[in-house]
Amino acid sequence: MNTHVAYQQSNAPRSHWSSRWAFILVTAGSAVGLGNIWRFPYLAGTQGGGVFVLVYLACLLVVGLSLMMAEIMLGRRGHADSVTSIANIARESNAHPLWQHIGWLSILSTFCILCFYPVVAGWVMEYTLRAAIGFTHLPQQNSSFTELLTHPLTLIFWHTLFVLMTGGVVLFGVTKGIERANCFMMPALFFILVGMFIYAAFNADLGRAFTFMFKFDFSQLTSSVLLAALGQAFFTLGLGNGIMIVYGSYLKSETPIPRTSLYVVAADTLIAIMAGLVIFAIVFAQGLKPDFGPGLLFETLPRAFSTMTGGHLWGFAFFVLVVFAAWTSAISLLEPLVALLIERFQFKRARAVILISAATWLVGIAVCLSFSTWSNAVLFDASIFDMLDGLSSKILMPLSGLLIALFCGWIVKRDIIQSELQLSALTRFAWEWAMKLIVPMAILFIFTNNV
Ligand code: PHE
Repeated sequence: MNTHVAYQQSNAPRSHWSSRWAFILVTAGSAVGLGNIWRFPYLAGTQGGGVFVLVYLACLLVVGLSLMMAEIMLGRRGHADSVTSIANIARESNAHPLWQHIGWLSILSTFCILCFYPVVAGWVMEYTLRAAIGFTHLPQQNSSFTELLTHPLTLIFWHTLFVLMTGGVVLFGVTKGIERANCFMMPALFFILVGMFIYAAFNADLGRAFTFMFKFDFSQLTSSVLLAALGQAFFTLGLGNGIMIVYGSYLKSETPIPRTSLYVVAADTLIAIMAGLVIFAIVFAQGLKPDFGPGLLFETLPRAFSTMTGGHLWGFAFFVLVVFAAWTSAISLLEPLVALLIERFQFKRARAVILISAATWLVGIAVCLSFSTWSNAVLFDASIFDMLDGLSSKILMPLSGLLIALFCGWIVKRDIIQSELQLSALTRFAWEWAMKLIVPMAILFIFTNNV
């Protein structure tokens, strides 16, 4: 079989983001998610505070930014879904036919994440409701997080609702659905966060939160801090999932990729740091500890909201913010799969959305049950939830990122890269070596320590 044949593509005209700012908003919408508001603060809380933040920023700039530019570049040049874009460029660069298939890894990863992400988002929606009722009004045992996990029907209800919300947006397409939803939710998210920040400045312990997050104690710098920071930089930008490739494929040719990517990374970081400061300020002000780990959002914070003045309203606003963050990220996870079905298999958008949503919804049901009824169903020593999470974040995402970096660093023709990125001589040199060596070595470091 000749693998060099051009892949079929639908002849329908491709959509484009209506402006560069729209692209920045949707990309930031993908990047800003549970990773910023849930994962980043708890990692900072358990991995040495300031040193972690510093190493994380370095990883974002060196590894995150350069890989993000690479993915957007592949999408805009390939001008198709993530698999076809890479295949197109591999062919244009006369690469070995095997390179044409590396996009499939990212599709698999996105599918795995999309099977459990709505379940986690469902927890957040349950907490939004609890906050609306008032955390204090609930019987003690009911407000606990572990208790929630043992109610599969509640989990399935929220999971189903979230899958419908995500599919409902993607159904309307690139500009009328994804762009419009992000252009509403991202500014709303930012304003809520600014409001909470101002509240925290006057009513909580922002000073202590600052010291906690920016006090650099280099004796705390260990390889586990480095690993956590690198993994977080990767996760928060959603790299290795084909999202930036697909979003980049809807980008107009005149938009400068490097500067636009830098804005997205800056927005993502700003929101993570602000969320961290707000959360720790509230936690400290209520005399609670910052190092609770993953339970920070679901155990520590509700306890803080239940005792602080106005906690009812602020708790509700906070969890609405988290729902928006998770929603825009889930939308970005669904689009690469939908684009693949539309462009490679000539599906209509509506059918593609329904098919993928139904498939991920079904697996998601198993995830909901894996905390209770099916807790004995283990594969490779892990529950279904842990398996999907581990497979995507520890294997598929890094592997796909590694191959994309090597592909861009060693295989793609230089003039293709230059015509898309238009870097100066110095930045071109830095970016190329990041792709050839630094990013692959960083990913191998994550890989060998995680598996
Ligand atoms: N970046 C998102 C976050 O920070 C999560 C995500 C991961 C989204 C992978 C898409 C792909 O929560």
